[in-house]
Amino acid sequence: MRRRLYRHHHTLRTLSLFASAMTCIAVTGQVEPAFGKIDSVTNIFRPLSQPAQEIKETSFLVLAICAVIFVVVAGLLTYALVRFRHRAGDEATEPPQVYGSNQIETAWTVLPILIVFVLILVTSRTIADIQNRKPTIGSVNATVVGHQWWWEIRYPELGIVTANELHVPVSTEGNHRPTFLKLQSADVAHSFWVPQLAGKTDLIPNRENSMWIAPSEPGTYLGNCAEYCGMQHARMLLRVVVHTPEDFERWVKEQQQPAVEDTSAAEGRKIFFANSCVSCHAIRGTSAKGVFGPDLTHLMTRQTLASGAALNSHDRLRAWIRDPQQVKVGCLMPNMQMSDKEVDQIVAYLETLK
Ligand code: CUA
Repeated sequence: MRRRLYRHHHTLRTLSLFASAMTCIAVTGQVEPAFGKIDSVTNIFRPLSQPAQEIKETSFLVLAICAVIFVVVAGLLTYALVRFRHRAGDEATEPPQVYGSNQIETAWTVLPILIVFVLILVTSRTIADIQNRKPTIGSVNATVVGHQWWWEIRYPELGIVTANELHVPVSTEGNHRPTFLKLQSADVAHSFWVPQLAGKTDLIPNRENSMWIAPSEPGTYLGNCAEYCGMQHARMLLRVVVHTPEDFERWVKEQQQPAVEDTSAAEGRKIFFANSCVSCHAIRGTSAKGVFGPDLTHLMTRQTLASGAALNSHDRLRAWIRDPQQVKVGCLMPNMQMSDKEVDQIVAYLETLK
């Protein structure tokens, strides 16, 4: 009697552990999406774009098939354990020995083959559908280049170069406008991942990968580098800003303009061009043509600095110019050893780059 009670207790505990694990999955599945609140956790269970939506549907189908198999197998196992468990007085007898049942063996060979076949068909269909998508009229093309530790973003057809923020139009039923990305790397392997928009795709040196996204709701989506690429891998953050068609046109027009020439910051401009800033950074419309660091033509339109390491505010920009290593240890921008006054003047100049 006591033994039986103990057994029940054990089963209950196992069940409650399983239940709490399931609750965890259900709860994390409810985390709010990044959309709207740019600092919240991003969520693969709330895709707001193709192909993330399609990937989620396929994953859930595969998960459901596996769950049914799990329930059947675990159920049969539990039944056998309970029904045929050892009982007092069993020592003398041996249970019936069954060998070579053609029916049973055929069943457990054919059924799994059919199930695996269904899984292969479903997943390969989704993969092919995603990989074979071709750009259409109205789609946007962008090239994303991974650097240690920031993202270079180019729109060759639009003549725009920016960094760390990918701007794309929203893609709706009536107005399907996917964005096709070419992914390259300038140094080591990185990986482009914006969980609510699509799966991960690696950026590999000397190779060009491609992917596409078609977000269905305007907003800001957070992403990050998903392949360890060195010291600041964790702060190689990325934002995808999804615009309404009109907002996207406005953004394109704005970015296509060369840098503003604002004489109010002439001192800072002089310092910028007298220092080695120009050998790494480009400012369109000026003699600064460096390609090693981010293009600064419209720096002030970006939400963050240093690939998301700091928000783009006056104080953080100042701290960043003063000593980049304080803001992002190990980053490739050096401390230029400038005086407070020079830093203020450079910041004043950079703040004209709207
Ligand atoms: Cu780039 Cu990790």
